[in-house]
Amino acid sequence: MKSNSFNKNWPGLIQAYKEWLPVNENTPIITLQEGGTPLIPITSISHLIGKDVKVYAKYDGLNPTGSFKDRGMTMAISKAKENGCEAIICASTGNTSASAAAYAKRAKMRAFVLIPDGFVAHGKLAQALVYGAEVLAIKGNFDCALNIVQELANQYPITLVNSVNPFRLEGQKTAAFEIIESLGEAPDWLCIPMGNAGNISAYWMGFEEYFKAGKAKKRPKMIGFQASGSAPLVSNKIIKDPKTIATAIRIGNPVNREKALNVKEKSNGEFLDVTDKEIIDAYKLLGKEEGIFCEPASAASVAGLLKYKKKIPNKATIVCVLTGNGLKDPDCATKNNDAIFYSNLNPDIKTVINKLGF
Ligand code: F0G
Repeated sequence: MKSNSFNKNWPGLIQAYKEWLPVNENTPIITLQEGGTPLIPITSISHLIGKDVKVYAKYDGLNPTGSFKDRGMTMAISKAKENGCEAIICASTGNTSASAAAYAKRAKMRAFVLIPDGFVAHGKLAQALVYGAEVLAIKGNFDCALNIVQELANQYPITLVNSVNPFRLEGQKTAAFEIIESLGEAPDWLCIPMGNAGNISAYWMGFEEYFKAGKAKKRPKMIGFQASGSAPLVSNKIIKDPKTIATAIRIGNPVNREKALNVKEKSNGEFLDVTDKEIIDAYKLLGKEEGIFCEPASAASVAGLLKYKKKIPNKATIVCVLTGNGLKDPDCATKNNDAIFYSNLNPDIKTVINKLGF
C-alpha cells in the first residue's frame, strides 16, 4: 500500500496498513485520518553537516492532534472499542493525553488523564480540555502519574493507553513504513527523541518488519536523544527529578527501557544527550531556516545530529523524527526566538516606515 501525504484520499493508517496490523473485520476503526505525514528535506541542516549527507524531517507534528501519538492512539482506541471498553486512562506529559482524549471521545468513551501539574505545555492542556477529557493534575512528575494509572488499570475496567499498551507501538511502527516508501529504502540513521522510549521501539519494529518482507535492504542505526537533565537511558540510571525545557520528554524512569536497549543493541545504535540550549538552538534553526515549527522535545533529534556530526559517515541518508507540532508550546516559542517584534506602535504609516528603516 502506498502511503504519502499527496494522496488526497488517505484513509488513515489502519486502512492503509491493515495487513500489517492486528485488526480484523470486527475491529471498529476509530480514525482521524492520521499518518501519511510528509518527509521533508531539511537542506540547511544537511549543509551544516557537510559530508554530502541528506537529512530529512519526518514531520509527525502534522498528525490530527499535532503529534505522533495519533498513530498509536488510532490502534489502541480501536482495539479498546473492539473489546467493549467504555473508559481509557493514561499518564502524560501532554501529547498522549491530547491524543487519547480525541480518539476516546470519537469512540464515545470516557477519557481520564493524569498530568504533572504545571509541566504540561498550554496547547496540550487546551486540547485535553476541549476534547472533553477528565483531567487530573497531580503534584508529581510523569513517572509518578504512570505508576498511579498502571495500578488503576489493574484494579478497574479501564484500558491503559500509555505505550505499555502493545497496540500503541503497532500503530506507531507505520511511520517507519512511510519513510521506507518515501525514500525507496531505509535511511542509514534514524534520529529520534526519547522519553518513555516507546516510539524508538515502534520505529524499529516497523523497520524490521519491512526489512524481513524484503521492502528494504537495510535497517537504520537508531540514534535516540534525551535532554541532559532527563537522560535515564543515556546514563543508564533512574533520574528521580528529571529537568528539561522539553517537558514532553521530562521522564526519569522510562517504562520501555528494556525494549529500547534491545533496539540500541540490534541496530548498532547509540543513546546520546543534548542540553536544553542545544535543543533550543535547533528549535530556532528549524523555524527560521526551514519554516518548520516543532516542539522543543522534537528538536532534540536535530540538535543531537548537529552535536554529534563527527560520528556521521559520508553520504549518509538521515531521518530526524519531529514528533510534535510547535503550536503545542506557545510559551516556549514566545520566550525563545530571535524575532524583531515592536509592540504598542502608533497606528500611522510614518511610524511603520520608520520601524522598517526605509
Ligand atoms: N516527542 C514528543 C513530542 C513527545 O510527546 C514524546 C512523549 C516523545 C517525543 C517521546 O516519545 O515516550 O515514545 O519515547 N510524550 C509522552 C506523552 C510521554 O505523555 O505525551 P516516547
